[in-house]
Amino acid sequence: MLRAKNVLLAVTGSIAAYKAAELTRLFIKAGARVKVCMTPEAAEFITPLTLATLSKNPVHTAFTEGEKSSRVWDSHVDLAAWADCMVFAPLTANTLAKMAQGQSDNFLIATYLSARCPVFVATAMDLDMYAHPTTQSNLEALARHGEQVIPSGFGDLASGWVGVGRMAEPQQIIDRMETFMRASQPLYGKRVLLTAGPTHEPIDPVRFIGNHSSGKMGFALARIALELGAAVTVVLGPVAPQFEEEDLVLVPVQTAVEMLEAVRAHFAQSDIFIAAAAVSDYRPRVVSAQKVKREQRALSLELIETPDILSVMGAQKKSQITVGFALETEDEEKNALKKLIEKKADCMVINSLRDPGSGFSHDTNQIKILARDGEKIAFDLKSKLAVAADIFKFILRKYHALRED
Ligand code: C5P
Repeated sequence: MLRAKNVLLAVTGSIAAYKAAELTRLFIKAGARVKVCMTPEAAEFITPLTLATLSKNPVHTAFTEGEKSSRVWDSHVDLAAWADCMVFAPLTANTLAKMAQGQSDNFLIATYLSARCPVFVATAMDLDMYAHPTTQSNLEALARHGEQVIPSGFGDLASGWVGVGRMAEPQQIIDRMETFMRASQPLYGKRVLLTAGPTHEPIDPVRFIGNHSSGKMGFALARIALELGAAVTVVLGPVAPQFEEEDLVLVPVQTAVEMLEAVRAHFAQSDIFIAAAAVSDYRPRVVSAQKVKREQRALSLELIETPDILSVMGAQKKSQITVGFALETEDEEKNALKKLIEKKADCMVINSLRDPGSGFSHDTNQIKILARDGEKIAFDLKSKLAVAADIFKFILRKYHALRED
């Protein structure tokens, strides 16, 4: 959740400030970019040099930096705009009160007031200060303003007392931030079902009818769906998975019939179904038990239709959004519209083999999306990952409209 995120850590003057070093280390370990700002009082408890070294960035303490003659303005607005999230750890009763009041007499609060990102606060103070009605009502004010309060825990306090007041442990702060971020993702709690890759329709024990599909587009869609917070299942034809990870369920299949059965088993629980597989349209009526011998000058195979998975699901869908791909060589839009209607899809992603860089095995794709309500968008040639992001962006924008269809 924190990978490649810009985390702004605000440290205030509490003995718990020493834990800011560990917190910074954990942020960096989680792949975040970290900048630290601190009050002058915090710098009494932990040196800016420690936090600058761990965060790999200069520490911000005041509105101006440098010697009097060469003083430069440090923009709290730019720093706030940089942040994807801001976390006050530790947060003292004093800074809490200022935040609740919007009293921006230092760099930290001015940055806080400029921040548009989610803000987390991890309080640290002695038990009576924490229990004081003023502190509690200030915390309520912050929660009302939409800040995420990470309450103090119970235990030994610097004063020698034991009670509630100590800052949550760095790992707890990280866990809380990750839980919040996960739940804020646009596809959190949604299930995405994908088909990907080719199908192999056996002729005999050693031969099959197949195609050149690599599964790259399907896996790019899986990657983006995971990044958007969805639970993802990929029903994958006979190609190697492009990646595997804990949150991704892979269901390997060989044939169109097996692919249909696997999709059926997962469809009812799904919110979005994207048929990105290149399913063979026909299969041999009879599969020879023995290898077919070369005995005649010509050989005819009787082929029968395979089930159309997107159509079958389109016919039985309830609230699911169903999306198909139309890989065409001519009359792209006309053919895609026909498929959209026949397969009762909510949208079709059109790609043309006439566009260089599109289609099987390429790492790029150029698409148009056609929606049931007639909306049509054309995109530039992009990486399959960027194309997948465009597709989900489109689906998310349309989501409610499509559901009410
Ligand atoms: O092959 P066709 O152009 O009809 O494929 C259009 C869409 O239908 C694709 O999304 C493809 O995955 C899906 N399809 C399917 N089952 C089939 C054939 C195609 O789900 N048997």
